[in-house]
Amino acid sequence: METVRPLITKALALIPATDGAVAIDFGIGTGEETGALLHHGYSVIAIDNFKEFLDEVRLRKDVQPHLTRLFTIQANFEELDWRPIPPVDLFVASFSLCFIQPEKFQSIWHHIVKQIKPGGYFIGELYTHLQRNTQIDGFFTEESSELIPLFTEKELRELLKDFESIYFAEAKELYEVQDTGHSEDGTIYSVIARRKELFSS
Ligand SMILES: C[S@@+](CC[C@H](N)C(=O)[O-])C[C@H]1O[C@@H](n2cnc3c(N)ncnc32)[C@H](O)[C@@H]1O
Repeated sequence: METVRPLITKALALIPATDGAVAIDFGIGTGEETGALLHHGYSVIAIDNFKEFLDEVRLRKDVQPHLTRLFTIQANFEELDWRPIPPVDLFVASFSLCFIQPEKFQSIWHHIVKQIKPGGYFIGELYTHLQRNTQIDGFFTEESSELIPLFTEKELRELLKDFESIYFAEAKELYEVQDTGHSEDGTIYSVIARRKELFSS
């Protein structure tokens, strides 16, 4: 069994869980983070477009005792109907925002921020660069290393303007620049951030 991503483990140690707290796991993969959230007492809304991941998460040993607190939604991030989803205390997007089609990113990010209760938390990775990745039924494709810049550091600060930073780390990642044959450094930011009480957007 895979291990829980260190960023999520760190966040769960830092953030005191409250009774009845609700978390979204946005892009669940094989479900380690969903399992950890349930173990910490959260009700979890697990969102993914790959049915098999959503079926398999229910079979995990660490999830089975908590099935009454697990809700799954099969949807593309880009087509998700946010209206029936309740406001959440925790929004986990672990290595999943890079799969959003870039032209949809801003509108989805706006939904994410609105979905987090004042005082709630965002935990996940944000990128200054992106290769156009797509995921179809668990298979990942990279469309010929097409580079789509997602945001600069300044844009990143703008994205996080409604949050106080709790933890922030940067890691460099090499990416291939389209049609040039050379590589450049991109940055992945790992973020734990608390939504401010007043929402500016
Ligand atoms: C790289 S995995 C990350 C899984 C897990 N959060 C982790 O940290 O290991 C990305 C996840 O997002 C899901 N995904 C990718 N593109 C998606 C999309 N457009 N809509 C919904 N889910 C998507 C995939 O099925 C997969 O479960």
